[in-house]
Amino acid sequence: MGIHFGVDYYPEHWPRERWETDAKLMKEMGVQVVRMAEFSWFKMEPALGEFHFEWLEEAVALLDSYGIKTILGTPTAAPPAWIVRKNPEIQPIDREGRRRYFGGRHHDCQSNAVYRAHIRRFVTAFAKQFADNPGVIGWQIDNELGNSHGDLCMCSSCRQLYQKWLKRKYGTIEALNEAWGAAFWSQGYNDFDQIGTPLITAAGENPSAMLDWKCYCSDLVVNFAEWQADIIRENCPNHFITHNYMGFDNKVDYYDLGTLLDFVSNDIYPAGHWQKQPHQPENELAACHDVVRGYKKKPFWMMEQQAGMAGWEIMGRALEPGQMSAWAMQSVAHGADAVVFFRWRTCAMGTEQYWHGILGHSGRPGRTYYEAQKLTQTFAKYMDDFEGTMPDPEVAIVHSFRQNYAFDIQPNHPQLRYVEQLQKYYKALHGKKIPVDFVQDMDDLSKYKLVIAPLQYLMTPGLEQHYMDYVEGGGHLVLTMRTGVKDANNLCMTDRELPGRLGELCGIEVPEYDCLLETTGGVLYGKKEYAVEKWCDIIELKGANQIAEYSTGFYRQTPAITENPYGKGTAWYIGTEPGEELMEDIMTYMIGVCGIRTLGTAADGVEMMTRESDDKVWLFVINHTGDEQVYHLHGMYTMLEGEKEEQLLPYEVQLFVGNKFQK
Ligand code: GAL
Ligand code: ZN
Repeated sequence: MGIHFGVDYYPEHWPRERWETDAKLMKEMGVQVVRMAEFSWFKMEPALGEFHFEWLEEAVALLDSYGIKTILGTPTAAPPAWIVRKNPEIQPIDREGRRRYFGGRHHDCQSNAVYRAHIRRFVTAFAKQFADNPGVIGWQIDNELGNSHGDLCMCSSCRQLYQKWLKRKYGTIEALNEAWGAAFWSQGYNDFDQIGTPLITAAGENPSAMLDWKCYCSDLVVNFAEWQADIIRENCPNHFITHNYMGFDNKVDYYDLGTLLDFVSNDIYPAGHWQKQPHQPENELAACHDVVRGYKKKPFWMMEQQAGMAGWEIMGRALEPGQMSAWAMQSVAHGADAVVFFRWRTCAMGTEQYWHGILGHSGRPGRTYYEAQKLTQTFAKYMDDFEGTMPDPEVAIVHSFRQNYAFDIQPNHPQLRYVEQLQKYYKALHGKKIPVDFVQDMDDLSKYKLVIAPLQYLMTPGLEQHYMDYVEGGGHLVLTMRTGVKDANNLCMTDRELPGRLGELCGIEVPEYDCLLETTGGVLYGKKEYAVEKWCDIIELKGANQIAEYSTGFYRQTPAITENPYGKGTAWYIGTEPGEELMEDIMTYMIGVCGIRTLGTAADGVEMMTRESDDKVWLFVINHTGDEQVYHLHGMYTMLEGEKEEQLLPYEVQLFVGNKFQK
């Protein structure tokens, strides 16, 4: 039996006498794995070179005796006070030049050589100690790399490393001045050593410099993780290495980070107190899972799946009966092979004493425990069958960290957010029960019938060609507003009208545009008028057909959405951000043209998703609402789990199996 369910466990928060009760309860719940120790540096090394792994070995052995395996986390997201006291320079500096001090977590600079020496000493000993431990199966490096490091680190160590990175990239300072457009506001440099980390300025920022800074920061984090992975692999070669991602978070390019991991893991808190209330909509969660699967094009693990009410200083909503299970199985439906719940028991101390776990403060099994037990008993057996399988979507949405960075630097419209834009396209497809992959722009796109590439703002000749080849060969491509605006250095392109060479692909030119600042616009599509937002490209047809026109602005009655046959395929251009209704209708039209399969029909809140082997398809139908629902499936399936076909109880998860549809 493979490993499919687990919990994040902190035995060091509880008396030794309690551990056995925990292990017993875990086993009875169906827990097969725990993650431990990712914040326990002080407990493992209370003073320089004084290692105390015995308590952890005891916990690992005890759990192992109950058949529960361990993943160990390297505790490098929270160096202990004695290190900080000895080497205060390892604490990071923020954009305002302030030091961030000890007392929470993430009080570290990842480039700092002194800090790295501490890590090398500790991780070497840690990995050696557990290399042959039969209870340990793998490692998590650090914890949520990028978390809380948003505006860090600006210290002198980071500055030197940044200068080196720039020198490697540009070779000469003249090349950098050119790439950064340094003629503007007298920003030229004579030497790389004049360049600083981007501390807060009196006014404005250089968009090209900021793009490099963000890429450098990502490279630093990837280097930090790779360097730790090397230490582990050298001393403990037989265990897997993973890392817990945060969905679409963008401090680090997760595709790059994925290359050094055996598999990717993710953390998700749908009812976190910072989320949309009462919880993050399921289509956004689904998109998160799909992008995580895309980071390595492989099934993933959930390393932290929300088990109970979230809370630090304030709390989120309580989870309704069944909600946790529906979210857990949503992760599985989108490609998770294992689900580890955060956390086992609600802890009584520290910042997260209101972050609720499978067990409450009392440690007695209650509603959540029994719900989790029922979940593992129902689904673990099937998860063996489809472990390793992937969904097989016909539609892809292009996702890029660089585009994301560029829009973080200059959103163009104050409310424009790169990921949110992707999510808007995703939502329409999700509602139609169409599985979606997220892909990188230069990936092989040929297996997809439809590729949606929103906001292709930074453009290169190679990427232009890539998109043209895809359509030429029979692909259907959607490009949107703000495409082909800038070169790879975040400088505006000047040698042609927008959207550059892709205008040839789309059969259009965009000589002008309008930013819908503090207003909305309208579009006429078919006989209906629809709301649009944020932006209107003013489009001239150069061979394309108009399929929708603006109904507002001085450019009313000019094209808003166009269609252009090109080679064996079609290029669509959407010059605005469609409101929800237009998005719905335009997607219906496009999936019709592409002949894309839908898994079934049901209201929003009822999700359908598949995982597929060479000959089989596992179909999940998940009710994310507290009401009964009905649905209809397209295709022949046998029900494996569920009360009644075509009907769903509140938060019910149904599982079906069928034969692989021949495409
Ligand atoms: C995650 C983190 C955990 C815990 C949890 C609840 O971001 O990885 O360590 O802090 O959130 O806040
Ligand atoms: Zn630093």
